[in-house]
Amino acid sequence: MKLDNSLTADNINQNLLNIEYAVRGPILQRALQIERELAKGVPKPFERVVRANIGDCHALGQKPITFIRQVVALAACPALADTAAVPDDVKQRAREILDDCTMSSVGAYSPSAGLHAVRARAAQYIAARDQVPASADDIFLGSGASDLIKSILTMFVEPVDGKPPAVMIPVPQYPLFSGTLSELGLRRADYFLDEDNDWALQTTELERCWSEASEHSHVRALVVINPGNPTGQVLTRQNMEEIIKFAYTHNLFLLADEVYQENIVCKPFYSFKKVMHEMGAPYSGMELASFLTCSKGWAAECGLRAGYVELVRLQPRVAAAFSTARAVMQCPSVLGQCILDCVMKPPAPGEPSYALFAEELSEIQRVLAERTETAYETFNSIPGYFCNPIDGSMFAYPRITIPEAAQAAAKDLNMSPDEFYCLRLLEETGVCVVPGTGFGQLPGTFHFRTTILHPHDEFQHMMDSIRRFHFNFLDLYS
Ligand SMILES: Cc1ncc(COP(=O)(O)O)c(C=O)c1O
Repeated sequence: MKLDNSLTADNINQNLLNIEYAVRGPILQRALQIERELAKGVPKPFERVVRANIGDCHALGQKPITFIRQVVALAACPALADTAAVPDDVKQRAREILDDCTMSSVGAYSPSAGLHAVRARAAQYIAARDQVPASADDIFLGSGASDLIKSILTMFVEPVDGKPPAVMIPVPQYPLFSGTLSELGLRRADYFLDEDNDWALQTTELERCWSEASEHSHVRALVVINPGNPTGQVLTRQNMEEIIKFAYTHNLFLLADEVYQENIVCKPFYSFKKVMHEMGAPYSGMELASFLTCSKGWAAECGLRAGYVELVRLQPRVAAAFSTARAVMQCPSVLGQCILDCVMKPPAPGEPSYALFAEELSEIQRVLAERTETAYETFNSIPGYFCNPIDGSMFAYPRITIPEAAQAAAKDLNMSPDEFYCLRLLEETGVCVVPGTGFGQLPGTFHFRTTILHPHDEFQHMMDSIRRFHFNFLDLYS
């Protein structure tokens, strides 16, 4: 006898049905299918799929930082210290971390906020970055920033003055935010970044968004992604001050997603914590959550899942409730915490691992500078494309003009024009990018997001394929 399912699409938490995450969405699913078809020998107008849908540098061939992997290896298997030819600073670092682990094992749970030694190291990193004091007590480690962002957003799931809670997020945005808001049943209030002004956050637009959302909800928090994903801008200090004043005026909790702070080409990075501090009272007294992850920056250890949130000036009862909620999840991976430790304090000049680390780091920085420049120039040289300068992150988000006939063809297939464009690009060239609908865009504009950190030849092949495709597309639909 066939049992009826107890869990059905009608009785599942309905919020789950509303989650969308285009970075691993239908275009990627089709790309994976094409890879299987290619493996079976199905003829295609290209030899391989180029995956440019996700910001995962190691997946694109970036080599891990040797110091990090050596520390992790020794932390996992301390006996290697006796046999492996690893530098003394690696041995010492692994020992310091293990000294803070229960029974000197990374296999033991750590405190739920993370190992104290690693949190202290993070506080030192932040204090040196900002020239503002930081405390290990304000730092919570997590399994990547996603884990922590979700935990923080959970705190806002409560109506205020009888109105449902809402959170302001940028458009375009990284869909972790829209997806998590959907999952938690929080309302999203979209504010549009100003594409014509290097994706700045204009206060008039922030005010518009707040006013409209406040008609039916209580806006409780403001998310800012700096450097931007998918947009790649680094905010000016003046713009940050305007944002802080706006948040203060409306009593909004600021969530500063600063995960790309180490992926910047030439502009200075200011953390929101620093700017708030330097603005003085009353802004220096505002609450703030700032996120960093080991998935980005030069470590780019996406698979090992590590990050932190620095949570400042929370009411003690709120901080205690947050800690307890985190404790229920035990603790983030201790091996991940080892990585964060290395990111917070990489080898310094004079230490045995420094020369190799400096060489590896400078290659990563060189590649980022070269790719941002090439992507910017290539896209702006294609008719119908516009791309802002890419200050940081690891993406380009060009705007594309899609001919009306192509828009009509998309409509016939029940697709948005940018989805149609990206699908055709994939089918004809094997290049897998993510349509702008996955991140959001001003109505009537079309974009896609591509990662830019492929090896040189692969990147050039991708740029050439996109250019060739676009000319064919224009021929067909203009
Ligand atoms: C802006 C932004 N925030 C947060 C994350 C989450 O990263 P992770 O969970 O790997 O730390 C990402 C990942 O791409 C991101 O781009």
